[in-house]
Amino acid sequence: MLYIHIPFCDSKCNYCNFNSYTNLHHLQNRYIDALLHQLDFEIDRFQIEQFQSIYIGGGTPSTLSIKNIEKLFSQLTRYITPETEITIEANPNSANRDWLSAIYQLGINRISLGVQSFNDRKLKFLGRNHSKNQAIRAVENSHSVGFKNINIDLIYNTSIDNLELIQTDIDTLFSLPISHTSLYSLTIEEGTPFANMKRVQREDIELTKYIIQRVDKKFPQYEISNFGTPSKHNLGYWQGKNYIGIGSGAVGFLKNRRFYPNRDVAKYIANPLDIEIEKLTESDLKLEKLFLGFRSIVGVAKEILNHCEIEKADILVENGKLRFENGRYFNIDYLLADEVALFVSDVIECR
Ligand SMILES: C[S@@+](CC[C@H](N)C(=O)[O-])C[C@H]1O[C@@H](n2cnc3c(N)ncnc32)[C@H](O)[C@@H]1O
Ligand code: SF4
Repeated sequence: MLYIHIPFCDSKCNYCNFNSYTNLHHLQNRYIDALLHQLDFEIDRFQIEQFQSIYIGGGTPSTLSIKNIEKLFSQLTRYITPETEITIEANPNSANRDWLSAIYQLGINRISLGVQSFNDRKLKFLGRNHSKNQAIRAVENSHSVGFKNINIDLIYNTSIDNLELIQTDIDTLFSLPISHTSLYSLTIEEGTPFANMKRVQREDIELTKYIIQRVDKKFPQYEISNFGTPSKHNLGYWQGKNYIGIGSGAVGFLKNRRFYPNRDVAKYIANPLDIEIEKLTESDLKLEKLFLGFRSIVGVAKEILNHCEIEKADILVENGKLRFENGRYFNIDYLLADEVALFVSDVIECR
């Protein structure tokens, strides 16, 4: 698995603290060269022969020129098979038809569009630089140039949400030729404009349940925020697979180590191999398996639990909170994922 981080955006949204910048576009060519340099190094470190999935995320990958995407692919082609899932994130304002057609021709087979809402007032509130109609056009263009695997990101639990707005968003979502949707509950991140504003977030559990139940009927939920045809790349993360992360703000993972390239874009370009390493303990790795497993259809293998944890998981099975099948425990209500993981793993509760 390979993740490629693109740290450029055309504008900064009110909620977002991803590692992305609106004033660094002039570094794009040099950034691509640095990515290719790190890629070479990581392919060697991870002993890669082929990728099961590649994910180009950001920031806004649709700010990249076709020339630069071609350059990336000229180095990636030999690790790509017909089964490789290749996703790229795109924003409705920059993903025009020519760009979409060119990336589809290059072999990218999954597109993830950051739509957030189909309500113009909500888009403005979130600080998005596109309209509802632009978002719809981007989805239709993606479909008409050939994409069969299309994801739409939406955000909910904002203070201007109400049942009617959410119903219209879901109706519009259902009317489009997509295979997947990611629905994110708004989180307030430090350093964003929303962090300094009052009443931007409103957690409404009834509305959340309504959204999940309705969307699940058309696009089955397979993780707390993900619905539809499961993405190989997402599943790989939750299954604890190794992944290369290239670019400033990317993260890589190999067995018991995490790799963090420099988050500062200029410093990353100057030295793409200046990578911090974090060592994970056995208990870190196990806790991660519990949290990721209970948030998704991946579940948790009984064999990684000790007798005390098994006792607690079995209590949850008796209470109808977990399902046990083929040696694994599966969560029934993903909204309770963290509570379930904490209950099963909490040493204090062990006799
Ligand atoms: C890397 S980001 C964005 C991709 C692309 N640049 C875009 O905005 O269209 C991936 C997704 O994370 C979600 N996201 C980012 N910050 C969030 C926040 N604070 N709360 C909830 N969702 C968030 C948004 O839905 C966004 O589309
Ligand atoms: S949500 Fe997307 S477009 Fe908006 S600032 Fe974050 S990465 Fe950039």
